[in-house]
Parts: sequence; structure tokens; C-alpha cells
Amino acid sequence: MSAHNATKTELISQLFWQMEIGADESLFATPCFKEKKIGLKEYFSLLENTNKSDLTTKNVEEDSLLSKESYQRFDSGKPKIDNSGPDVNEKKELEAINSLKELRLALESFEGISLKNTATNLVFSDGNPNAKIMIVGEAPGKEEDRIGVPFVGQAGQLLDRMLKSIGLSRDQTYITNIIPWRPPGNRTPSQEEVSLLKPFILKHIQLKKPEIILALGGVSAKTILDVQTGILKLRGKIHNKNFGLEKPIVVLPTLHPAYLLRAPAQKKFAFADLVLLKRFILENETLNK
Ligand code: URA
Repeated sequence: MSAHNATKTELISQLFWQMEIGADESLFATPCFKEKKIGLKEYFSLLENTNKSDLTTKNVEEDSLLSKESYQRFDSGKPKIDNSGPDVNEKKELEAINSLKELRLALESFEGISLKNTATNLVFSDGNPNAKIMIVGEAPGKEEDRIGVPFVGQAGQLLDRMLKSIGLSRDQTYITNIIPWRPPGNRTPSQEEVSLLKPFILKHIQLKKPEIILALGGVSAKTILDVQTGILKLRGKIHNKNFGLEKPIVVLPTLHPAYLLRAPAQKKFAFADLVLLKRFILENETLNK
């Protein structure tokens, strides 16, 4: 299908497809090549190597390529969400937060990250807010984004089975992610996105005060432990991490279930980590209650 004889519906579905594969930002109001800003007419003629396009920039502006509703998904008329992160006032507000409910509200009104533009839902947490085991993943995938609940897709189903293998169910744990909005196309969150949202996950941990954190995958383990070491070196060991609470919290990094789906031969390592978790639970009376 060439660009200039596509129907409006086809153009909209092409745009959504581009979002799916991770093109989450438009740099200019009209399509252009990265280095050189060109008008629509020139763009289409370059694409097709012909000058027969009757689409002028004026036509396109008058008869928008997108329906009003789908346009709102790209630019809802709200102030543009950028990647500025929490500003000084927002940081103060974050410090003053006293409950998980308030933290959720703070994220809902946070405008400092562009991931919000492309996500359908904020994915805050699942499981039992009183659980002593906190599980922290990386970022929501497609299903999680659609429903607004972490770990409900294929990786989540594997996580449920992993927990079951040591006699735990999802509601004996509290589950969240480092990034609460889905990165388009399920790409790995950028270092910038992780840094912008780190104050929120640290606050989440301080409010939740778990006895132990199971950190799933490299992004989660590195962010929580504040290190650059890879997950293969971090996993399999108990780490004690200070979060400014009365006592340090035990962090157990393990392999991410999405990685295990792609590399099932690694499941033996994840199982060894789960056995470590089980031993820790059995040895710590408070976790058994
Ligand atoms: N992977 C994650 O890290 N988190 C989810 O919620 C789902 C998949």
C-alpha cells in the first residue's frame, strides 16, 4: 500500500502499528526524514519516486489524517508530557506521601514522562498490600497495559507457577514494577525513564516496608540495589539494602519470567533462587504469620 492512496482507516492503523513497534514520538508536525525537514508533498513524491501526489500540506491540515478520538491519543490537548521527571515541588510532595493510595494518585497526576502518552493504563500494583514479600518487575506489557494490573500476561502466568512451586500464591505477595506505564512495543525502558521513575519505586518500597523484595530481572535488580552489575552476577544471593527505614530490607534478585519464556534452560537458576526465598521464609518466623 502506498502512503498517498491509503484510506484514512489504513493510515490510522499504520500509525497504531508504528506505536506497537516502539515509535512513540513524532518529532515534527509533518512527516519528514530525520536529517531534513520536508513538506508532505515532497515526502510522498520521494516515497514513490513520482510527482503525481495530489495531497498538499493544506489538504492534509484541513482534512486531518486522524479522527478526533484517535488524535486525542497522541495529543490530548493537555500540556505536553515531556521527560522532565519530578520537579522540586513534586519531589517535596513525594516525600510527604503517607500511603499507597496517595502514591497512586501522585503517579496518576505526574506529567513528567512521555511514556504516559502511549500507555492505556497506569499499572500500579496487585496482590496483597499487607504481604511481607514484595515482587518488583520491570514494566507492564501489552496485557498489563490493557487491564491495568501487573503480571497478567504470559510472563505473569509463569510467575504464578514459579510462586506455586514454593507453595506461595499471588495474594501472599505484593506485586509492582519499576515502570508503571508500558514502554511502546515492549521495549526495555531507557536509562532516562528508569531514573525519572526511580523516586517513585523507592517511595513505594518505603511505604510498603516489605521483609523481602524479589527483584525480577536486570532492570529491577539494578535499580533497587543501585548498582550496574548484571543480573547473572546479582542473582542467587541475598543482598541487604538500606532504604532509609529502621532496618535494611533483604533483596533477592532473580531471572525475569519473560526471559525464562525465551530461555527455558535458565529455569533451573530461577528455581534455585526460589528455594533460597523459601528457606528465608521458613527461617524468618514473621514471614510465616
Ligand atoms: N513484565 C514485567 O516486568 N512486568 C509486568 O507487569 C509484566 C511483564
